[in-house]
Amino acid sequence: MRKQIAAANWKMNLTFTEAKDLLDAVLNNDLELAPHQLAIFAVPFPYLLMAQEVIRGYNNYFIAAQNCYFQKSGAYTGEVSVSMLSSIGTSFVIIGHSERREYFNENHQMLANKINLCFDENLKPIFCCGEPLSVREAGIQNDYVETQLAESLFHLDGSKLQDFVIAYEPIWAIGTGKTASSDQAQEMHKHIRNVMSDKYGDDIAGSISILYGGSVKAANAAEIFGQQDVDGGLVGGASLVAGEFTAIIKSLK
Ligand code: 13P
Repeated sequence: MRKQIAAANWKMNLTFTEAKDLLDAVLNNDLELAPHQLAIFAVPFPYLLMAQEVIRGYNNYFIAAQNCYFQKSGAYTGEVSVSMLSSIGTSFVIIGHSERREYFNENHQMLANKINLCFDENLKPIFCCGEPLSVREAGIQNDYVETQLAESLFHLDGSKLQDFVIAYEPIWAIGTGKTASSDQAQEMHKHIRNVMSDKYGDDIAGSISILYGGSVKAANAAEIFGQQDVDGGLVGGASLVAGEFTAIIKSLK
């Protein structure tokens, strides 16, 4: 079975002490994850080492960065490189979150560069895609998402995409309390898998974990994760509450 993943994206929230308390609170539940289940915490840069220390010894828990820079190194004041993340033992990094695309003007090519750097440094990308409301209303969301995938991933050799992680996050569902219905999620996830299959074949497409993101909470996680092509979630607001995120982890297939 491909990996089922509950990933917390804390975004720009929590002080250091709050962050540590939240990790402790989730881990104190002693959730036994099955071998195919992963829980990931995407924390702010200053908390990466602390978080990695806190989860040490817990099976199938991982820490992710929320971003990285698209250049390898150099005079880019304030940026964080992929090799820096790799050198401190970070496992995953979120690439192409819609907030980065929108507020920081990240384009397809920058994201392709980031993905390449991740593969060079053995950091696992969590590649985000998803359409804004206007695109959904126009009914052209499938083409929109397909372009995002093609422009940032299709230069890659298929071997790189075995067990890859994609997060589908419709922008109109992020932080709005308006979740995509489980049918809408399944439909897009199936489309994403088909797009990957057409390019790379069924085996690789079938190994890719496709997470849903957008107002996932304890109350709706099980239904969404229960869909055939939904392999867990990328969770913002609800991941800041220990009980909510714990219940979301428990909702994994
Ligand atoms: P919310 O769960 O707060 O809607 O955020 C989703 C998200 O953007 C996760 O990356």
